[in-house]
Amino acid sequence: MSDKLSTRPYKGTRDFYPEEQRLREWMFNQLRRSVNQYGYEPYDGPMLELFELYAAKTGSEIVNEQLYHFEDRGGRKVAMRPEMTPTLARMVAAKANQLPRPVRWFSLPNLWRYEQPQRGRLREHWQLNVDLLGVEGVEAEVEIVQVAIDVLRGFGAGPTDFEVQINHRELMNDLFDKVLKLEPGQTQAVAKAIDKRAKIPAEAFYDLLTAAGCNAEQIETLEKFLVCPLLDIPSIVGEGKGYTDLIRFFDTVNAMGLGPVCRFNPSIMRGLDYYTGIVFEVYDQHPDNRRALFGGGRYDNLVGMFGNTQMPGVGFGMGDVTLKDFLEVHGLLPEITSQTDVLVGLFSAEMFIASQTLARSLRAGGIKVEAVLSPQKLGKQFQYADKKGIPLVVMVGPDEAAEGKATIKDLRSGQQQTVEQRELMARLQVMLHS
Ligand code: HAM
Repeated sequence: MSDKLSTRPYKGTRDFYPEEQRLREWMFNQLRRSVNQYGYEPYDGPMLELFELYAAKTGSEIVNEQLYHFEDRGGRKVAMRPEMTPTLARMVAAKANQLPRPVRWFSLPNLWRYEQPQRGRLREHWQLNVDLLGVEGVEAEVEIVQVAIDVLRGFGAGPTDFEVQINHRELMNDLFDKVLKLEPGQTQAVAKAIDKRAKIPAEAFYDLLTAAGCNAEQIETLEKFLVCPLLDIPSIVGEGKGYTDLIRFFDTVNAMGLGPVCRFNPSIMRGLDYYTGIVFEVYDQHPDNRRALFGGGRYDNLVGMFGNTQMPGVGFGMGDVTLKDFLEVHGLLPEITSQTDVLVGLFSAEMFIASQTLARSLRAGGIKVEAVLSPQKLGKQFQYADKKGIPLVVMVGPDEAAEGKATIKDLRSGQQQTVEQRELMARLQVMLHS
């Protein structure tokens, strides 16, 4: 066995070399711009929380199979956050009486889940969380779904590139309890089967339901429900709150012209236990990436877990991994080169102070400047700038220094010109913005 350490990161995590980091920052900045347009404010919290924060409501799959948890040195059971919503609810509950309502917050935390790494799924990911708390009616869902749509549009996605698929937890509860009359122990297995339905053959779906203890009649009713248009839902489940909320939601988004990107899909379950109302998932429509990109929903009882104040909430979480896949298949990822504007080259060791002084004066004028520190062949210096995507190289040799001049080489066109140093800044600005 080698005594050398591995350079590979821990399975399911990523290193972000500058090239990847640039792309990520571009993505994050675009996300921030989109949510800022709706007045959402940034917040953050700790990466470690008490285990019990997740045990209560996060859902058994995450808690039992995916949570990174351990005992700290003081014997407290702690967990690395697998999602942000419990932290958000805890923070909002702590200041519930002081916060102006509605609360509009967003965050971009890194989250940890022990998953089998695969396309769209890693063990550490970053997730845009956008949440609106303090609004009871579907107006909140109407806003949150608009934010979700505009986040994708902000990247240049067109209206047919994705679809928001919408369902309601109460509709499902009514179906399970009043129509199918499932035993409490059965609902979880049936919900899981529905969640998987789009990804498995019809027989496998049937087998899962049978294994969950459903009889032929229950399966037939469920199959009918899962392909039922929204307007016909009352014939199966009646006109409960789930149905009326959905009708109000769709009436509103249709009137706003957002109807074509929103669709009722009665098989959207969402894995988390705390959802109480409308739930949704955004699906990529590209044939090579037909999968859920992100999701969210209404959670009315989460803040109330921490004290006496109830505050309803609606929000979504969008992962960076699935977002990048989406942007990639739709050709929406830009080529992002260096942020540096100018490389100040070094003609010879004797010119070090002159070139450093020049670099300082350019930086003071607001130009982003890298400076060469040790003498190298000029060709090498140009190659370095080219490789890093720096468009301009400025060089001062002894003759130019004596005459108060400098030479600019534009690596984009290959052209070179010598200018007075006092004109250099203005000339560079023009060239950078050309
Ligand atoms: P979630 O469905 O568990 O919801 O995750 C939301 C999104 O995060 C997923 O659709 C996916 O884009 C991304 N994601 C989740 N797990 C991974 C992973 N292992 N690797 C890469 N990406 C992943 C929640 O977490 C809710 N707390 C969202 C929410 C906010 N609901 C209301 N407010």
